[in-house]
Amino acid sequence: MGKVAVVFAAAAVVAACSVAAVMVGRRMRSRRKWRTVVGILKEFEDACDTPVGRLRQVVDAMAVEMHAGLASEGGSKLKMLLTFVDGLPNGTEKGTFYALHLGGTYFRILRVHLGGQRSYLDVQDVERHPIPSHLMNSTSEVLFNFLAFSLERFIEKEGNESDSQGVRRELAFTFSFPVKHTSIFSGVLIKWTKGFKISEMVGKDIAECLQGALNRRGLDMHVAALVNDTVGALSLGYYHDPDTVIAVIFGTGSNACYLERTDAIIKCQGLLTTSGSMVVNMEWGNFWSSHLPRTSYDIELDAESSNSNDMGFEKMISGLYLGDIVRRVILRMSQGSDIFGPTSSVLSEPYVLRTNSVSAMHEDDTPDLEEVARILKDLGVSDVPLKVRKVVVKICDVVTRRAGRLAAAGIAGILKKIGRDGSGGITSGRSRNEIQMQKRTVVAVEGGLYMNYNMFREYMEEALVEILGEEVSQYVVVKAMEDGSSIGSALLVASLQS
Ligand code: BGC
Repeated sequence: MGKVAVVFAAAAVVAACSVAAVMVGRRMRSRRKWRTVVGILKEFEDACDTPVGRLRQVVDAMAVEMHAGLASEGGSKLKMLLTFVDGLPNGTEKGTFYALHLGGTYFRILRVHLGGQRSYLDVQDVERHPIPSHLMNSTSEVLFNFLAFSLERFIEKEGNESDSQGVRRELAFTFSFPVKHTSIFSGVLIKWTKGFKISEMVGKDIAECLQGALNRRGLDMHVAALVNDTVGALSLGYYHDPDTVIAVIFGTGSNACYLERTDAIIKCQGLLTTSGSMVVNMEWGNFWSSHLPRTSYDIELDAESSNSNDMGFEKMISGLYLGDIVRRVILRMSQGSDIFGPTSSVLSEPYVLRTNSVSAMHEDDTPDLEEVARILKDLGVSDVPLKVRKVVVKICDVVTRRAGRLAAAGIAGILKKIGRDGSGGITSGRSRNEIQMQKRTVVAVEGGLYMNYNMFREYMEEALVEILGEEVSQYVVVKAMEDGSSIGSALLVASLQS
């Protein structure tokens, strides 16, 4: 071999070695980054773990806090609010009634016609609209004028069809925020949740505000009841099945109410009702316990929210927040590695990832996870390989599994408080042999998260059986109540008139 050839051969070897070195370097760097991502995922998964032992601790804490909230005003983070609802619709109601529901994301208006028998429930003209976002931090006047205007349009559309022509219309106002009631017709706003921020409304009588706006528009409509959405759902549940004693909402926000014995509401000594019981609005979104598996992402979400240090349970289990927890985990991974490409500015926007997108990604059954790719693209993250898309699905799973399982623990906590979990409650020591005596208990459930996110629902129902055991869970029936909070509130107004 000539000298020149040797030099060329040596140069080729050196070039090949440097290419190989670059490739190996790249591979090692990419492995390191992948390891970072896997590490973040593992740490998150561990922090969200909800083995049944931990769920049982949450169950006990919920039952204990319920007792404390009933014992004294401010005795617990659970407000355990009186609703003054001491009787629920039983099917004999008659007439035409209206409901206006201000929820977290939508407002609804509907009319029901009742014929005096359960089977004669005719729900007419349900209108559902997104709440315009500017209303959430406007003024009470703007908000209520808008609601009155929407009601006026609804009535105008009735034409001559309705039976209520010429008669004052009776309206139920389903208001999905915490209210301190003075009667079933009136109550003041305690605080806003779910991103609403009209501060001058706190402390104002909500029914009065709506009635004022209706009067200003000259509408002959009477706000006949102010009802929390959970209480509406309970009313519809009870109307169809009198074994319904608990109602839970899993929507933009989350909450539960249940039928309590008045003598157990110690903070209101001497409270008398003809039925001996009253519906209590727990406002469980504010429940807190050290047993809740809280991660650094939850802490950051809370700190940056408009109501920090508040509604801790709601922020782990409800629709407004699940998407944002997922987004925060993806963002951290993207900042700690380049597997999502350069960090997208869209991904840094709070609440840009909605829970319905989380559900769509989680339930994506295409082989290449095309839905995941599409949603990531909307977040400014394009062309990620399949293995990265799988990581995203896993994050959705971890967040939703934790939410569903904690939601189940919340329900089991109520069952424990009222002695329907097979253990005899937290005060008496009934033995397991008495399980045969267990009463059938129906839990009415409503809200977009529960209705539309199958995996959430499955995790919740599976965990409920795990906590209660096969035997007891046979007596606990979870029933979906579509539009229950609005329809049920109208039924409640009907029952007040009969
Ligand atoms: C509110 C509750 C409401 C729940 C579900 C929470 O943010 O505080 O009053 O029932 O959302 O809509």
